[in-house]
Amino acid sequence: MGKKILVTGGTGFIGSHTVVELYNAGYTPVIVDNLSNSSIKILDQIEKIIGYKPEFHEFDLCDERKTAAFLEANPDITGIIHFAAFKAVGESVEKPLEYYRNNFFSLINLLTPYKGKNINFVFSSSCTVYGQPDVLPVTEEAPVKKAESPYGNTKQIAEEILSETATVNSNYKIVALRYFNPVGAHESALIGELPIGVPQNLIPFVTQTAIGKREKITVFGDDYNTPDGSCIRDYIHVVDLAKAHVAAIKRMEEGKSADNYEVFNIGTGKGTTVLEIIKAFESSTGEKLNYVIGPRRAGDIEKVYGDVSKSTRELGWKAELNVDDMMKSAWEWEKYIQKNPF
Ligand code: WQD
Repeated sequence: MGKKILVTGGTGFIGSHTVVELYNAGYTPVIVDNLSNSSIKILDQIEKIIGYKPEFHEFDLCDERKTAAFLEANPDITGIIHFAAFKAVGESVEKPLEYYRNNFFSLINLLTPYKGKNINFVFSSSCTVYGQPDVLPVTEEAPVKKAESPYGNTKQIAEEILSETATVNSNYKIVALRYFNPVGAHESALIGELPIGVPQNLIPFVTQTAIGKREKITVFGDDYNTPDGSCIRDYIHVVDLAKAHVAAIKRMEEGKSADNYEVFNIGTGKGTTVLEIIKAFESSTGEKLNYVIGPRRAGDIEKVYGDVSKSTRELGWKAELNVDDMMKSAWEWEKYIQKNPF
C-alpha cells in the first residue's frame, strides 16, 4: 500500500471526496472523525467507489491525550490533510466559543506531536479570509481582512498559527488551501454534501427545492452591482477540490515547496451569479426551480472569485469540471439520498 495520509474529517463532504482521490493516486488514506457532522455510512459508500474500506478511528481531536496517542501509534503517517472543523458561518456567530475551542484545539493537538519531526500538512482554509476583496480576481497576496464571522476568524488565525509554526520549525511542510465555494458530488452519486437541518448554502437548498423538500428558494438580493444584480461566487466542483489536496501532498513530498508555509487559491477563476446558478441547474437537469427574490442576507459579500494561476503554476493543478457538471452531480446525489436516506 502507498504512503499513509491522515484525513481528519474524512467522512465529511470534502474529506470523503479527498479520501477517494488519495486512494486513486496510490496513497493509503486513514480517517479520524468524531462523526459530529457526518455519517459513519459514508465509509461504506467510499468502499463502494474504490473497493477498499479505509482505516477509521472515531475520536475527538480536541482530546489532546487521544490525539497524541494516536499519532504516536502511527509513526508511518507521512502527511495530514486537516478538514475536521466547525464550518457554518451563521452558527459561528451564535456559538463563538464552541467554534474557537473546536477549531483551534484540534489544530494545535495535531501539530504539537510533530515538533522536530517531518510532517506534510494540508490545511482546509477558505476565501472567506479575503472578505470583500478590493481587486478581483483575488490573488493569494491580497490582504486578509477583518473576518465577518467567528468561523472566518478561525480560518485567519489558524493560518497565522500554521505560518508561525512553520517559521520556527522547518520540519513542518505546510500548505493552506483557500477554497472558494465547494459544490457538487462524486459522479457515482454515492457521496456528496449531507447538510443536517435546513441548508445554509446555496446548492443544497437548490437541490432540496427541486426535489420538493423545500417549497421555494429565495435569492438573497438582486440589487448588487453585478450583471443580474445577484451575488457572484467562484463555485468549484468538490472532485476538483479533492484533487488539489493530492497535488499539495505531492508538492511537499517532491520538495518543490518554495517555503515551508504556502497558500493557494483553489477555485475555477470564474465568477457565477446566483441567478446564473439557478438557470444552469434548470438547463442542465431539466428541473424547474421555484425561486423568489428576497432581501440581502446579512454578512454576504457582493462578489468574489479567485486568481488561481499560482495553483496551476506551482501545484500543477487546474479545475476541469464546469458549472453544469456541478449542478448535474449535485442533483444526482440529491435523488440518491432521497431513495437512500442516511
Ligand atoms: C452563496 C451565494 C448567498 C442560499 C459560505 C462560507 C464559505 C464556505 C461556503 C465553508 C450567496 C446566495 C444562498 C440561499 C441565496 N463555507 N444564497 N439563497 O456564503 O458564499 O460561503 O459557504 O466552507 O467559507 O462563507 O456560500 O452557499 O451560503 O451562498 O441566494 O438560499 O448564494 O447570498 O450570494 P457563501 P452560500
